Amino acid sequence: MKVSFVGSDKTKTGIVLEFSPDLAIVPKEEAEIQFVEITGAEILAKLPKTFAMPTYFILNTKEKSVIEKIKVFKINGLFFVPLKKDDVLKKLKLAAGHEGTQGDGDSYDIMRAKIIAKAENIPALPDLARDLVKLTRQDNSQLKDFVEKIKQDQGLSSKIIKLVNSPFYGLRKEVASIDRATVLLGVNTVKNLALAVSTELYYNKNFAMYKVSGQKLWEHCFAVARLCEGIAKLVGEDEDSLYLAGLMHDMGKTILVDFLVKEVSDMAEETEQLGINHAEVGELILNKWAVAKPLTEAVRKHHERMGDKISQILYFANLIEIDEEEREKNIELAAEAFNIDSGEMASVIGKILSGQPEDN
Ligand SMILES: [Fe+2]
Ligand SMILES: [Fe+2]
Repeated sequence: MKVSFVGSDKTKTGIVLEFSPDLAIVPKEEAEIQFVEITGAEILAKLPKTFAMPTYFILNTKEKSVIEKIKVFKINGLFFVPLKKDDVLKKLKLAAGHEGTQGDGDSYDIMRAKIIAKAENIPALPDLARDLVKLTRQDNSQLKDFVEKIKQDQGLSSKIIKLVNSPFYGLRKEVASIDRATVLLGVNTVKNLALAVSTELYYNKNFAMYKVSGQKLWEHCFAVARLCEGIAKLVGEDEDSLYLAGLMHDMGKTILVDFLVKEVSDMAEETEQLGINHAEVGELILNKWAVAKPLTEAVRKHHERMGDKISQILYFANLIEIDEEEREKNIELAAEAFNIDSGEMASVIGKILSGQPEDN
C-alpha cells in the first residue's frame, strides 16, 4: 500500500523499518492513503477538517485537549505511537474492504485515546508507596526505616492495624500497634500491607458496571496479591514482586469503569464497548508508576494462560481467587504447571484464603 506521511523523521524511519514491504512511503500525488502524525494542538490547528484522500492520524501525544479536538476531524482512523504493525495493517485492510467509510473517524480509536490519556494522568502513588515499590526485602535496614515512617503516618498506621486484625491475617489476638504487627508478621509483611492500603483510594468509586463494589474489588486484589506471594514462595520466584503484581493486576478497571456505559462480565465485553481492556490499561498505569517490566507484562497477560512464570503465577492466583466452584481443579492445574505437589499447593492456598496464621 502506498502511503504519504507528514510528521517527524523518527516516526517516518520507524514506519519504513517496520512496515516494508507492506507499506511504502511515497510522495502525496502517488499515495493511496495518508498518515499525519499529531504531536500537539499546534499541528491540529494547521490541518483542514476533511481530507481528499483516506487519512489516518498517528497520535504521538497524551494531551487531553488534543484528544478532545480530534473528534471534529473527518478521518478514517487513529493509530498510536509506538505503531503496532499487526493492528495497523489489519485496520488498513479492513478499511480497504469497506471503500468509502471515511466519515466521523473511528469512535473506538477516540475512546481508546481518551482512556489512554486518563490512564497516563492517573494520580501518582503516595510518596511512601512509591518508595516501597522500589524496595526489596533484601534492604533490611531500609525496611526498618520505612516502618518508622509508617508509624508517623496516623491514617496509614490505623488502616494497616485494621487490616492486620481482619480475618485475612487470622491473628488470634487483637493487634494494637505497628510495632506489635511487625513482631507478629515481620517487617516485610507490614511493608506489603502499607502498599495494599495505599492502593485502596483508587477503588473508592462506583464499580456497578463491573457488578461489584470498590471495596470487594480491592479485597479481590489484596487476596490475589497474597496468593501470588504464597505461590511465588512455593515455586522460588520473588515474593515481593509477585505480591505487587497481584495487588495491582486489576488497576485498569479503576480507569475503564469511568467509561463503561453497560455492565461487563469479561474482557471481551470491555473491548467491545471501549476498544481496550483492563489488562492493557493496567499495564499502562504500572509503566507510568515505574513498576518493573516483567511485572507490567504479567499484568497485561493476567487473563491468558501462557507466558513466563511470573505471568502464570498471576494468571492462576487470579483464577483461583475468582472461581470458587472450580478452585480445586484450578489449584491442581497450577500445581501441574509449576511442578509442585498439588496437596502442598492446596494447603498453602487454603491457608491464605481462609486467613490462617502462617507458622513462623
Ligand atoms: Fe482481571
Ligand atoms: Fe482479577
